[in-house]
Amino acid sequence: MDIMDIDENRLVSPEVSFEDADTEQSLRPRTLEEYIGQEKVKENLKVYIEAAKMRGEPLDHLLLYGPPGLGKTTLSGIIAQEMGVQIRITSGPAIEKPGDLAALLTNLQEGDVLFIDEIHRLSRQVEEVLYPALEDYALDIMIGKGPSAQSIRINLPRFTLVGATTRAGQLTGPLRDRFGVLLKLELYTPDEIAKIVKRSAGILNVPCTAEGAYALAQCARGTPRVANRLLKRARDFAMVMGDGTLNESTAAHALKRMDIDSLGLDTLDRSVMRAIIEMYNGGPVGLETLAAALGEEAITLEDVCEPYLMQMGFLTRTPRGRCVTQLAYEHLGMRHPAPAAQLSLEDLQ
Ligand code: ADE
Repeated sequence: MDIMDIDENRLVSPEVSFEDADTEQSLRPRTLEEYIGQEKVKENLKVYIEAAKMRGEPLDHLLLYGPPGLGKTTLSGIIAQEMGVQIRITSGPAIEKPGDLAALLTNLQEGDVLFIDEIHRLSRQVEEVLYPALEDYALDIMIGKGPSAQSIRINLPRFTLVGATTRAGQLTGPLRDRFGVLLKLELYTPDEIAKIVKRSAGILNVPCTAEGAYALAQCARGTPRVANRLLKRARDFAMVMGDGTLNESTAAHALKRMDIDSLGLDTLDRSVMRAIIEMYNGGPVGLETLAAALGEEAITLEDVCEPYLMQMGFLTRTPRGRCVTQLAYEHLGMRHPAPAAQLSLEDLQ
């Protein structure tokens, strides 16, 4: 398979695919009670929600950050549900002009949640409109042009902004400072993902053993979206090749057919590690150079491959570039170059 073909069809990509959209909806937990994992985030959120309800106020503006596919949209839906308010969902790139944001804000009801995904991609002009909305629940609108221009202020209902980003570092300082709560989502453990797979299998009416769920969980890169996608594909193999039950053997067969190895690495992950080893002697190599060598976008490598490769201990980021570790050589069955022989004093005499 050509490297260029890999990304769009990548089963382990954490980005939402067209096919995910419908089932994601039905698999989404609706309450904090149903939501598996992210224990620390959940515990804190419970307190913030309860306190806001006791005060009869909307929840403070909240920023969710972390790798894609971990449930930022799901969590914001749960927040709205637990607060008993409506949620409006949009994204940074969808809000092109200040007027687009003004239309969204003026249509909110008291207490509503406005969810802006990829909030780091808001334009500067749109951000400027957002600041008074966040601080004073007000919109400042300019009427007219030139010396006769006037600014009028429109009051907005009190609302909660939930911003989501995969790159908290790219948020401007003033925007980041306006969030009262910052919550970092972490990759899930295999045990948590196995519970999510069992829950999803139940909703999709797929008979699934604990071993089958765990086999998929170990290959889901700590990401529920990937796990649910693997579940749907493994269900196909279980139905056609077996009796429809997802067990250890049907899961292993499905993963093999999908070119996903025992640790959840797919062809692109392995190409990344192999390129660093074969073309750059194990690194360091700059991200852009590596991306060009693989014919991939740097952002794909950075957001999709690297978090998992680093979590697995296969890759390190150094100030001089990316390096693979000895574990990567071992996983690929390649020989790690011996460290340069140390000369002893005797050698020099
Ligand atoms: N489906 C996707 N993410 C989930 C989560 N965190 N808990 C339960 N089901 C999920």
